[in-house]
Amino acid sequence: MAILVLGGAGYIGSHTVDRLIERGTETVVVDSLITGHRAAVNDKAKFYKGDIADRDFMRKVFKENPAIDAVIHFAAFSVVPESMKNPLKYFDNNTSGMIKLLEVMVEAGVKKIVFSSTAATYGTPERTPIKETDPQKPINPYGESKLAMEKIMHWTDLANGIKFVALRYFNVAGAKPDGSIGEDHNPETHLLPIVLQVAAGTRAKLQIFGNDYNTPDGTNVRDYVHPFDLADAHILAVEYLEKGNDSTAFNLGSSTGFSNMEILKAARDVTKKEIPAEIAPRRGGDPDTLIAASDKARKVLGWKPQFDDIHKIIETAWKWHSTHPNGYNDK
Ligand code: UFG
Repeated sequence: MAILVLGGAGYIGSHTVDRLIERGTETVVVDSLITGHRAAVNDKAKFYKGDIADRDFMRKVFKENPAIDAVIHFAAFSVVPESMKNPLKYFDNNTSGMIKLLEVMVEAGVKKIVFSSTAATYGTPERTPIKETDPQKPINPYGESKLAMEKIMHWTDLANGIKFVALRYFNVAGAKPDGSIGEDHNPETHLLPIVLQVAAGTRAKLQIFGNDYNTPDGTNVRDYVHPFDLADAHILAVEYLEKGNDSTAFNLGSSTGFSNMEILKAARDVTKKEIPAEIAPRRGGDPDTLIAASDKARKVLGWKPQFDDIHKIIETAWKWHSTHPNGYNDK
């Protein structure tokens, strides 16, 4: 049996490919390399460069790899502020990409998909921590594009029998503990890598977007999870589907929230650098607080995150950023 990882050269995809290979699973990777990095993909994976919305290309991938039994789908754009400026880019790449992928999966008879969804599908939650059954009302096009993808999978399951697991991640941070793979977006928009770029001296200062939110210190509160733990959750989700279980969604988070100010302080502790920062105006599309209730994943999938301490998470990220100040340096 082989697993096809779409977006396997991206931040979380590359960690998942790495874990699959470590477990001895035959792994096929498709990535357009628009945001992904070839150097992030474990050499033992079979790699195809291409777009998942290109039906003929995807038909060829399935035809050449008849052992593919399940798909793990990370191949989406995921930058909230960019989606606010350019929503159609998100609906085209993410939502319409999913439609084309599912069409080809129906043709190929591949009936299992694990989908990298997002806490952004919840919008501004009515209560915290957020449960999977809570209302999904996105407040940005990114979240809306992924909610539509979840709904499309639901109807394709009913009509075509493609079973899915939607994994709704909260905020992801950290790198492989040996520092060999990590986070490299260009441009970088995420909080922790920006904080660590300032610590490493490749960026002058941090801007904290807003300190007048409805949170204890006024800055947004987020729930951080390590890509190593996310990778394990995806593998457990494939196993869940292999056992013949029904389609469902799981939240993946640590169930603890840290404010942007607390992340800055923890990064100063870990790096022993000053990390200059200033308060800047709010950025559009940011909910006050996002914290996951992840009990369902722990109970049903048996998921046990190993990185449960924000300092440990930041240490792994710092190892990557301090040794790769220009990321993979391939763009
Ligand atoms: N932030 C700053 N300064 C920066 C960058 C970010 O203050 O330079 C703030 C943001 O305003 C926000 C927090 O840091 O309050 C986290 O922002 P990120 O851009 O790191 O992450 P987001 O919460 O916007 O989004 C991430 C993922 C999404 C996912 C979401 C769910 O990128 O894919 O988490 O929680 F949907």
